[in-house]
Amino acid sequence: MSNEVRITPSILNADFAHLDSEIAKIAQASDLIHLDIMDNVFVPNMTFDFQAATEIIKNCPIPVDSHLMVADVDLIAVQYAEAGSASVTIHVEATSDIRSTLKEIKSHGARASIALKPNTSINDYSEYFDLIDMVLIMTVEPGFGGQKFMENMMSKVKEARKLIGSRPIWLQVDGGISLSTIEIAREAGADTFVAGSAVFSAQDPAMMVEQLRTQAALH
Ligand code: DX5
Ligand code: ZN
Repeated sequence: MSNEVRITPSILNADFAHLDSEIAKIAQASDLIHLDIMDNVFVPNMTFDFQAATEIIKNCPIPVDSHLMVADVDLIAVQYAEAGSASVTIHVEATSDIRSTLKEIKSHGARASIALKPNTSINDYSEYFDLIDMVLIMTVEPGFGGQKFMENMMSKVKEARKLIGSRPIWLQVDGGISLSTIEIAREAGADTFVAGSAVFSAQDPAMMVEQLRTQAALH
């Protein structure tokens, strides 16, 4: 596993009315901004429509990591790549053609990534590891920020690390990442960490990003 640690704060728990200044607080300290897209179908919550998301992607001073929690994701994923996302993550549970959607995402210059909900086994998806740039293991049920970290997902993180082998694939965890859980996820093999409420409920969000990075780098 490489020593690199990436922190990708989620703006889900930021103040949506002042997103530009919320993003500005953490941009310099962060590797990418994690943008959660929810459609109220795949998950029981809704965030940004495509137009609002496009504005965020275009105005963001650092690369955007779009995490699509939407049903029938295939076409939408290509649109998010075209809109300028640095990385597009599709849920394996929401696609009808993983292989061609991953290829389409990459053909638009974005990194292509697959996400797995807590009840989805990774073994059924090992054949796609030659096509992906990142795998996202959900450490909560997708839908909301501020939920409890599911430590029992660490066996899946370890399996993902094994499947990655020597490939330069990032291994991301999302849900409940904080100063008290990031080390557990790092030890299991994650190198890319989404943190929403931990960052935006901190008094100094940029400092929290740095603290998370330091904490993860201890392992
Ligand atoms: C949840 C989202 C997460 C969420 C994480 O479905 O995918 O990105 O914002 O928030 P925290 O870090 O508060 O669990
Ligand atoms: Zn997310």
